[in-house]
Amino acid sequence: MSSMEDKCFELVGVSRSFGDLKAVDDLTLSLGRGEVTGFLGTNGAGKTTTIKMLIGLIRPTAGTVRLFGEDPTQASTRARIGYMPEMAYYYPFLTVRELLAFYGGVCGMDRRTIRTRTDELLKDVELEEAAKRPLKTYSKGMLQRAGIAQALLNDPDLLILDEPFTGLDPLARIHFRNLLKKLRDRGKSIFFSSHELGETELLCDNVAIMKKGRCIYHGPVDRLAGDGGGNLERLFLEVLEKGGVS
Ligand SMILES: Nc1ncnc2c1ncn2[C@@H]1O[C@H](COP(=O)(O)OP(=O)(O)OP(=O)(O)O)[C@@H](O)[C@H]1O
Ligand SMILES: [Mg+2]
Repeated sequence: MSSMEDKCFELVGVSRSFGDLKAVDDLTLSLGRGEVTGFLGTNGAGKTTTIKMLIGLIRPTAGTVRLFGEDPTQASTRARIGYMPEMAYYYPFLTVRELLAFYGGVCGMDRRTIRTRTDELLKDVELEEAAKRPLKTYSKGMLQRAGIAQALLNDPDLLILDEPFTGLDPLARIHFRNLLKKLRDRGKSIFFSSHELGETELLCDNVAIMKKGRCIYHGPVDRLAGDGGGNLERLFLEVLEKGGVS
């Protein structure tokens, strides 16, 4: 029996238009508790638009979005998610500590928890040495790391990440992959968009593949199992070619 309690989020018949353009077209998709799903698709397929609707940043033009059974704009549901945007525009004069203190405050965390959590996370994303510098002096990958720390600060039940691997150097990428695996093993639910098929294959139970606003595949990654890796790339190409959408 499927009830809302088993779902982290549920999109039913969701569309979003920008003028004449249907960025997301009749999308029905859900994420179960403890599930890790990769959100794939070509540039402009509607991934970021979907993610923004999921967390209540923009409204759908049709359909319903439920986050933990509620409207995504509810403050109580927001406190349970960690969100990392595709492009973060942080206040350039803040340090990463100040950034995290600010977000922690917004999430209603107390100062002591914020401090302990910040120390842990700065270690995890290896920003301890740069912690006193303003964010405007950070490289792209360093900003990405600051974004990861921000998304994890409130120890969320559900992580929604928009291209979290972009800009990370190979070591940081391995480190972040392991961090996500640890969270997955602790029962966290994770939904992330990516163009990194290798990373997605290593982390995910399921993938959803978007093309021109429609979901053309939603299912397990290991459907073509048996020949040792590279499966997702083949699945991706095959699905995009057949694609259901012309
Ligand atoms: N605010 C907006 N105004 C007008 N069009 C928009 C807006 N946001 C998105 N779009 C359009 O909607 C479509 C989907 O964009 P979206 O950012 O969701 O794609 P994406 O799958 O995240 O792509 P990418 O892989 O490049 O990040 C694109 O055609 C884009 O130009
Ligand atoms: Mg995007």
